[in-house]
Amino acid sequence: MLKIFMSQHDSIRAVEWKDNHLVLLDQRKLPHNEQFVQLYSAEDTAEAIRNMVVRGAPAIGIAAAYAVVMAARKSYKQYPSDWRNRLEAEIETLRNARPTAVNLMWALKRMCAEVENVQGDPEEPLLALAQRLHQEDIDANYRMGELGSALIEPSHSVLTHCNTGSLATGGYGTALGVIRSAYSSGKIEHVYADETRPWWQGSRLTAWELAKDKIPAHLLCDGAAAHLMKQGKVSWVIVGSDRIAANGDVANKIGTYSLAVNARYHGVKLMVVAPTSTIDLGTASGDDIPIEERPQEEVLNVATQRIAAHHTQAWNPAFDVTPASLVDALVTEKGVVEHPSAEKIAALMTS
Ligand code: MRU
Repeated sequence: MLKIFMSQHDSIRAVEWKDNHLVLLDQRKLPHNEQFVQLYSAEDTAEAIRNMVVRGAPAIGIAAAYAVVMAARKSYKQYPSDWRNRLEAEIETLRNARPTAVNLMWALKRMCAEVENVQGDPEEPLLALAQRLHQEDIDANYRMGELGSALIEPSHSVLTHCNTGSLATGGYGTALGVIRSAYSSGKIEHVYADETRPWWQGSRLTAWELAKDKIPAHLLCDGAAAHLMKQGKVSWVIVGSDRIAANGDVANKIGTYSLAVNARYHGVKLMVVAPTSTIDLGTASGDDIPIEERPQEEVLNVATQRIAAHHTQAWNPAFDVTPASLVDALVTEKGVVEHPSAEKIAALMTS
């Protein structure tokens, strides 16, 4: 049974294994409805990832790891002597659920290695591994919280983008984990959170997490960020990542690149917080990172209300790439890399 430690500023778990199945907090319904979805198959989990019931790079990876447990259980029951081969199609469906967050592929790779190793009934060993990946992610977030917090001078305010908290991870969060740790130790006084168009991860999810943990915050329109920086109200922009290329380029929620350019112009520092499971040495640079494009309705409508004029078309890339040269600090559970480069990332990954 996974025993999860939670601190004073850490009150949410969005992905959980209960008895024999996966339970996800439905992030499409937040903040006004806290509804849970019960999942018993890999196909349904892939659908939940595609539809954003669960989102955020590490959370997607953890959900997929638990989905492999359910797929293997079914396959072993139906085809005890050929269960590994029968599993492949479901793993492929999971792998294709969303293209940008490499934590999904990373978690499936770790699960597949165990699939090759196990003898006999695979459920118990695969569940043990999925739970270990889940716990490792939480531990990494607490470690990154300490390391990132140490970079912040006392009594500062920071700006964050998208949702990088407990909802986006196994628990605690990456960028929001640093913010939680820095607030707990009195370093951060106030948080500014971008609303994060078009899916409103900031308004619906980050603001909800901050309010639950009683961390003082203001929400702002994405377009207000440069004005905030110009007024000297923030000293750091702190964000997560969905994939970091071998040269240190960072894919993250659309709008991160604009923040990075604006931050450099205004003398505000950019901190990227991500576990090493987000670093993809197989992707040479940001140009090689696949960027998901989501349905135009997410831009044309707000919830079910049509906002744009009829016959308008929209372009909806879900992520963008910030060049490594705009990153002041990359915080991972293995350590902090200042001004990341291919050489520094290679050294971190072999340390
Ligand atoms: O489309 P989403 O909501 O899955 O995008 C999430 C992000 O961009 C996060 O910033 C990223 O996954 C890092 S969160 C730990």
